[in-house]
Amino acid sequence: MNQSIASLGPILLEAKKIRQRVQELGNQITQDFIGKSPHLIGILKGASIFHADLVRAIELELSFDFIAVGSYGGRTRSSGEVRILKDLDESIKQRNVILVEDIVDTGLTLHYLLQNLSARDPSSLRTVTLLNKPSRRKIEVPVEYVGFDIPDEFVVGYGLDYAQKYRNLTDIRILRK
Ligand code: IMP
Ligand code: MG
Repeated sequence: MNQSIASLGPILLEAKKIRQRVQELGNQITQDFIGKSPHLIGILKGASIFHADLVRAIELELSFDFIAVGSYGGRTRSSGEVRILKDLDESIKQRNVILVEDIVDTGLTLHYLLQNLSARDPSSLRTVTLLNKPSRRKIEVPVEYVGFDIPDEFVVGYGLDYAQKYRNLTDIRILRK
């Protein structure tokens, strides 16, 4: 086993459990958006895998787009300064937007994005996050759909990275440094 894999800690969420929960979130969104055609915006790169699975768990006509944001500073700790690295391709004016995030930690990224997107005049704006670390919150943000509340651990896999690695793991694991 190579050294980078060996630095991974235990599994927090197995692929099967993630799959079941994503299906439940998809069912819930399907119920809540009947007749509405939601527009699902994935936040690159972390949410890309969750987004790809979630849109297929929603049984509605829908559309999607992506946005990429970055924060200045540390790798595992958000500095709070957010910037858009890749903006949306399409206007969200009068659309029913669902922002798709991998993890809400301090809440700073989501806070910035919700402010930025709501200024573009969508009909509605909700957020779904696969993971939530409530104990780390620095700013209160509304999150309508949460996959799992998790403890204050740095996790990787299923799209989440450490230094751009481990996004392809099917389970979500704790990183031990
Ligand atoms: P926030 O602005 O502090 O809420 O940070 C959110 C972003 O930080 C997420 O979209 C992730 O990219 C990253 N992040 C926070 N916690 C973790 C983690 O445990 N593993 C991987 N990335 C994380
Ligand atoms: Mg992210």
